[in-house]
Amino acid sequence: MYDFDTLLNRKGSDSYKWDGLSKEYGDPDLMPFWVADMDFKPLPDLDEALRARTVDATYGYTFAGADYYRSITGWYGRRHGLAVSPEEIVNVPGVLTGLHMTLAALAKPGDRIIINTPVYPPFFKLGEDGRYTVLQSPLKEAAGRYYLDFTDLEEKMKKGARFYVLCSPHNPSGRIWSREELLELVALCRRYGVILLSDEIHGDLAMPGQIHHPLLSLSEEARKVSIVASAPSKTFNCAGLKSSFLIIPDEEMRRKVRRKIESYHIDIDLFGLLAAKVVFEKGDRWLDELMRYLQDNALAMKDFIQARLPGVKAYMPDASYLFWLDCRGTNLSQEELVRRLKTEGRLALNDGVLFGPEGTGYVRFNFGTPRSYLEKGFEGLERALGTASIQASPAAAGA
Ligand SMILES: Cc1ncc(COP(=O)(O)O)c(C=O)c1O
Repeated sequence: MYDFDTLLNRKGSDSYKWDGLSKEYGDPDLMPFWVADMDFKPLPDLDEALRARTVDATYGYTFAGADYYRSITGWYGRRHGLAVSPEEIVNVPGVLTGLHMTLAALAKPGDRIIINTPVYPPFFKLGEDGRYTVLQSPLKEAAGRYYLDFTDLEEKMKKGARFYVLCSPHNPSGRIWSREELLELVALCRRYGVILLSDEIHGDLAMPGQIHHPLLSLSEEARKVSIVASAPSKTFNCAGLKSSFLIIPDEEMRRKVRRKIESYHIDIDLFGLLAAKVVFEKGDRWLDELMRYLQDNALAMKDFIQARLPGVKAYMPDASYLFWLDCRGTNLSQEELVRRLKTEGRLALNDGVLFGPEGTGYVRFNFGTPRSYLEKGFEGLERALGTASIQASPAAAGA
């Protein structure tokens, strides 16, 4: 049994999540349930391997060896039943770097890129320098579940969109797209010549009983139009060790993307390579236990919210460790909602509007933390959004 009950002390380590509170929220003492990394001790084998690597103290230029590629292909075979060949893997330090580099290699200035909103905020920046236009296709929501709007997507493709960046599973809602939805998406992309970039960084974090469908596992058609970006970082809580990869089955696209990445001399460092190798070789049991722990956390949080916060709806995510909390029932304005969570709840959460206009009335809450600490978060939510405080506040009514 691995230990997920001990809170990792991350203060004073230049941790974005813990030490970034002053900069982001102007208050270093808030409880951080924002940035998407976890507060658990890492896989012990990772710790050991990193320590062992410093013994010989050689830190020169390093390449990704055959055992690194084997660890990734082995992982995909075991965990997803997907055959990935080492040649298809293109290394990048981060998933976002991979997405940006892919566009830099394959897109022309002025090209249109579809994203779905609400979505992980850096997706909006894929066109930030003005080279490309980002088109937002809002997801449809029904009973707390998001769905792709195929009519809107087809409309945008008809008008000449050339790329589609899909978040699969979806951040912030944790939705796993079904095989049928993904196949329909692939068919649309094939019909209109759209290249599908699938960000699957949350793909190893399916809740027990749920199955994530890697895009490349769907069909030969999917392999022709798709590029997948992923990493061990979200799954194994090692985002500070830069190590990610693209999987590009199409030879021509792969050649172009590789050339672009090489032209910028972008590479993974030796600790990133080592981390990927170790977690993919030795992390299966840790991840299975983690997912059971996270599912228990999520169920406890859902129950708490249902019992104590009638204005808030927490829908179980299919994957990952993020709750996309629907607070519209509190009738608080977004400003007041965020203010209360911070000043009364003492919580640092992600403001829903950062994920797109559809995020109004929402906040994102990261429950990837030991239960005892999570429970302090529950108390914060209750202080901020409990029935009594909402009813007592003149700002609440219709605000
Ligand atoms: C959907 C998604 N993509 C990418 C990232 C960041 O990946 P990286 O740090 O490898 O660029 C995150 C981090 O939260 C994420 O949620």
